Amino acid sequence: MEQLELFKKNVELINLESVIGSGYETQVAELALLDGVAYRAARANMQKHSAIILKINNEFAGFFTYEINHKVGEFCLLQSAMYPEKKDKKIYSLMISKIIEQNTFDYPMIMTVSKKHDLENPKVFKDLGFKINLEKNDFCYMYYGKEEQVRVKRLCHMAMTNLWLSTSGEWLKIKREWNEKLEEMGLKYGIPNPKFASREGCWQGKAGMSNVVLSKQKVEDGEIITDKTKDLNGNASVLDPTACEIIVRMFMPTTGVRVYNPFGGGVQMGFVAGGCGYEYTASEIRQNQCDANNALCQEFPNVKWIKSDTSKFTPKQKYDLIFSCPPYYKVETYLDYDGKAPEGELNSLSTYEQFRDMLFEGYKNAISVMKDNTFFIVMTGDSRNKDGGYYGSDAEHELFFKEQGLHIYNKIIYLESEFTRRATAKKTLNSRKYPKCEQRIYVFYKGDTSKIKDLFPNVGRL
Ligand SMILES: C[S@@+](CC[C@H](N)C(=O)[O-])C[C@H]1O[C@@H](n2cnc3c(N)ncnc32)[C@H](O)[C@@H]1O
Repeated sequence: MEQLELFKKNVELINLESVIGSGYETQVAELALLDGVAYRAARANMQKHSAIILKINNEFAGFFTYEINHKVGEFCLLQSAMYPEKKDKKIYSLMISKIIEQNTFDYPMIMTVSKKHDLENPKVFKDLGFKINLEKNDFCYMYYGKEEQVRVKRLCHMAMTNLWLSTSGEWLKIKREWNEKLEEMGLKYGIPNPKFASREGCWQGKAGMSNVVLSKQKVEDGEIITDKTKDLNGNASVLDPTACEIIVRMFMPTTGVRVYNPFGGGVQMGFVAGGCGYEYTASEIRQNQCDANNALCQEFPNVKWIKSDTSKFTPKQKYDLIFSCPPYYKVETYLDYDGKAPEGELNSLSTYEQFRDMLFEGYKNAISVMKDNTFFIVMTGDSRNKDGGYYGSDAEHELFFKEQGLHIYNKIIYLESEFTRRATAKKTLNSRKYPKCEQRIYVFYKGDTSKIKDLFPNVGRL
């Protein structure tokens, strides 16, 4: 019956390679302006794209513009509209199906869809096989195709500016995905607390501080028994796997494969790099950390932590991406199996200046193995000296890399949860100290910045 209804209406769908030159320019522009939401379809720079023209009983009734981008390998659905008196979800869906038919290239199809629109809304697209890539308050980024084809787009939509909000729902979803994979490897290879990358040798604060889990209490025969052995330190710095994925996918050149981390630390970056199909080498001074990480990543044959002092170590190969989250002076203590900091471990150096010089020696060695036209990314945070002032480590990083001839290309703010810092504020605001709830991600670039557009994958339409 429904079919009959449609045929009674005599629905015609005409595919145009470009609106310009088709004879439909004015009709599309008039309807676009009348519709309001689709107004951009009136512009010449939009009309150069393709479109489906809808005719009902031989009269122009609507359009849907789209763009096939062969350079990026994607198929973008742009604007759509139907005359108000002719609006009909079934006929509208026929336009979308006709567009899907045009995608004979197996490209992912993408569309930004408003939750408030009567026709162009998530439900209509879902019914035709589109899925949500990322959801915002009143609109959704949707796609048709395979999830991996639009992964980078999802990461771009999540972090579109230099403010990376690590507490957003979308961010946490990706973090959970990686953590589940890590937990799986931990179980499989007998590594406890894999999320914390078995950081038994990594402690924040001194014994007795609340962020070090030092004691468990139980009652036995009416007496409180305290077990004073150290337990999992839930507050050891753990790199955020979502940030790792954005970094590795956005800053790896199209033909690149190799990541080097001069101050390895936890498992996250290696695990994510391996999971994304890249090779990864890290220099890490603690054997216990290397062993735990290597065990967790044994299914990635080209992901390795090497026990070494980075200030004296230069890898043999050249790298396509350098990433590091080095020690932040005296924020954590790094101990090996014997309960001691290995010789050369940066945080055990007695002055900030010694720490900084050794850290920068390590960076110099890493810079020497960068290929031309590649990025060096440092996630770092300043810390306060005994008088309460900052050491100025962020600023020194910028100047150091600039002096080494690299461009200071991005200064990203990685925003953490404010919640726990509010408790700290109660203690510190009287001394006019605002607790820090961000870290910096510095993106330095070695080479000719005008080549970035060609050497790195194009992210397509956002
Ligand atoms: C802040 S941690 C890395 C944090 C990392 N983002 C993570 O999630 O674990 C820095 C690492 O540098 C290591 N380290 C300290 N001094 C070093 C040195 N001279 N050479 C190599 N690694 C060193 C520490 O053992 C620690 O694991």
